[in-house]
Amino acid sequence: MRRLNSTAVFLSPWNFKAGPAGRIRLRILFSIVLIGWFPSFLAAKISRPELLTVTEDSFTLYWETDQATGCRVEYGGQISRRDQSQEEKGGQGLFHLLKVNGLKPGTEYFYQIKCGKEISGQTPLSPEKLTTLTLPDGKLLFSFAVMNDLHINEEAAGLMLLPGAKKASLTPGFKWKDPNDPYWNFTNRSAVRQINGLSPELVIVNGDLTSWFTEAEFKLAKQMLDGLQMPYYPLRGNHDRQGAEPEDWFKKAFHLERSYYAFKQGGFLFICLDSIRLKDGWEEITPEQWTWLENTLKEHTGVPSFIFSHYPLALGGAGINKNDRKKFLDILSAYPQIIACFYGHKHGAKIGLLKLGGREIPQILVPTTKEYPAGFALVRVFENGIVYNFQPEDCENCLEWRSVTMGEYSGMAPRINGGTLQDRNFLYPFPEQIQNLIKP
Ligand SMILES: [Fe+2]
Repeated sequence: MRRLNSTAVFLSPWNFKAGPAGRIRLRILFSIVLIGWFPSFLAAKISRPELLTVTEDSFTLYWETDQATGCRVEYGGQISRRDQSQEEKGGQGLFHLLKVNGLKPGTEYFYQIKCGKEISGQTPLSPEKLTTLTLPDGKLLFSFAVMNDLHINEEAAGLMLLPGAKKASLTPGFKWKDPNDPYWNFTNRSAVRQINGLSPELVIVNGDLTSWFTEAEFKLAKQMLDGLQMPYYPLRGNHDRQGAEPEDWFKKAFHLERSYYAFKQGGFLFICLDSIRLKDGWEEITPEQWTWLENTLKEHTGVPSFIFSHYPLALGGAGINKNDRKKFLDILSAYPQIIACFYGHKHGAKIGLLKLGGREIPQILVPTTKEYPAGFALVRVFENGIVYNFQPEDCENCLEWRSVTMGEYSGMAPRINGGTLQDRNFLYPFPEQIQNLIKP
């Protein structure tokens, strides 16, 4: 007890039993410590910075702070000269997203995030340097957006279910705090609002619009997608199967005569496949659809073409029939007008080049709208190439939900679903045989 008392006395300069000069010296020392300590205590700590998107004239950063605060990004052409700055607009929060505009194409930039006195540090997801993209030659022809894996009416995110299973998840998953505004509602609505702001010519909605393929879920999905101010084209995902439902609600809700189809835009062909077995959601391309696909490609040998399917057909994996994969690869080899394939299902960002003979065909996995990394893709089609950029959702709840679902896969979601900067931002110059097909 005596010892405790004496410690307390020692820590208080106003009670320190020394001469007057000693007390003054100690008070000065204590004040210096307080002055130095308080600002650092009050400064918001920066965590989880991520460089999400880089275009030819912008980059977009995400980060978190442990206190609600406004921050800014300082950037410049040299690490020692970050002489430009962009402040966050709007409210001050814990979850931050900032797009820095007005950059030069093909130029290296260095950046740092600053929140009061706190300065960000380099991390694997935020290297604090980047090079802006250089656009392909030729003029912009049109653009399109790709939304994936909306999962309307889903109860929990991050579950690990096998196809056909309704329960028995390997993980408890993640739920949003407000049951009156579920995460699939605000994330998908934000995507629709942001796509309207970007005004692409069309939107591809590449599967898993619903969770359990009920009529009510399809009606809700259609109502939400009808908010898009441009044509949109839905594809079936494994969650949009018929199962034991009395009707194929996917076809009925979207007034589709056939669940696979093709259309033209700006001299390009868009081929939308139905890669789902109706009864259980496993991958299947029916014999009729294979015939239709080959006939469609034969009829359009001079038309550069994009192919979309929910299952990553050329990549293979769980649920994908090996014979279908082989057949699809044979088709990609046989028809040189195919530019690229877009897939969903995996919920993550991944882009690879499939080598077939002397050609390379991009295989693009577009992330989900409804959980980390929470966004959609904008694809700009130029005369001589395509530019692909991930667009993160920016609503306030979206950013908090992004943070929550970063915890999926035991916190490995950034590595598993986030992909690399190159998996989210991609420039593909058309090879000569595609350029020759594009009419000026
Ligand atoms: Fe999905």
